[in-house]
Amino acid sequence: MKFNIPHSRPTISSKDISSVIKVLRSQHITQGPVVDNFERIFSKYHNVKGSVALNSGTSAIHLSLLALGAQKGDEVIIPSFVCSALLNAVLYTGAKPILADVNNHDFNLSIESVKNSITKKTKAIMVPHMFGLPADIKDFVALGIPIIEDCAQSLGAEYNKQKVGSFGAISVFSFYATKVIATGEGGMVASNNTKLLNKIYDLREYDKKKFCKLGFNYKMTDVEAALGLSQMEKLPELINKRKSIAKIFNEAFSNYNVQIPTALPRKEHIFYRYIVNLGKSSAATIRTLNKKGIHCACPIFEPLHKQMNMDPKRFPNSQELYKNTVSLPIYPSLLKQEVDFIIQSFKNCLEK
Ligand SMILES: Cc1ncc(COP(=O)(O)O)c(C=O)c1O
Repeated sequence: MKFNIPHSRPTISSKDISSVIKVLRSQHITQGPVVDNFERIFSKYHNVKGSVALNSGTSAIHLSLLALGAQKGDEVIIPSFVCSALLNAVLYTGAKPILADVNNHDFNLSIESVKNSITKKTKAIMVPHMFGLPADIKDFVALGIPIIEDCAQSLGAEYNKQKVGSFGAISVFSFYATKVIATGEGGMVASNNTKLLNKIYDLREYDKKKFCKLGFNYKMTDVEAALGLSQMEKLPELINKRKSIAKIFNEAFSNYNVQIPTALPRKEHIFYRYIVNLGKSSAATIRTLNKKGIHCACPIFEPLHKQMNMDPKRFPNSQELYKNTVSLPIYPSLLKQEVDFIIQSFKNCLEK
């Protein structure tokens, strides 16, 4: 099916293109000085000791888990209402993924469900800040178990005026094409813990080791880093654009009996996604909007408990959100007439 308004669209400027061309012309196209610079700027932005650029968010999770020592016999807690990258990365290490439910109000990991899932074997808890809205990260850190903050969907979001990605033992980011900034494929680890950062550098620099040691070719190229750096420069602008579209959506939909995303006092929402909970099945609405050329979807492909054939009754909120939510297109390059068309079409669905 061809959509006139895609669900996601990267924002690539002519400056982004010339930054990439400059690297191509330099003929140094693998990991090199531009990657170093991207890592430095990224650390400065997050006010953390260091960052390591990698080829995907999944690689960032994998190496973070390895740096924390996750292996066979350990357990790692992850939410059910998230993409399968988290599940894959835990499985790569041999550890057992333990699924927890999410909150109905903010779609983030439920602290109660996590508390009920902790055992002596729990090695780490993965806390994604879902759809651009920070989770209650301080409550998770207070549990005393290493936290991997997953900021793949929330670059630039703030909790208590502090950037997400600077609270946990380690944090991971993705620069996949649909993300807040894009390098095509790409990822980053950030941390204040030098020991963990050094372990990750070591796992990435897989060659030139005196002894046989497992390493991973998860490197980012200077070509990708050039795009990342150029995108970082306009990050505040990209986030402001998302926020202003969300404001227009919120005003348009506030009088309907549906749950729309709201900005909370301590949490700076960057609106990576604009998710509406209809309180009833969203399937017909998604179908209608898609037919009109507006590509909408359930915010995740399938909850992980479904993929793992687990009893949905154990994950009531993930199950409900999977059935009842719709993700409307929201991104900086959305034109005013596209925003208006989305509003009018969605209102028509709500008024039916
Ligand atoms: C919350 C979350 N974590 C991790 C990832 C994995 O990132 P990547 O696609 O770069 O491997 C994604 C990507 O889709 C994501 O949404």
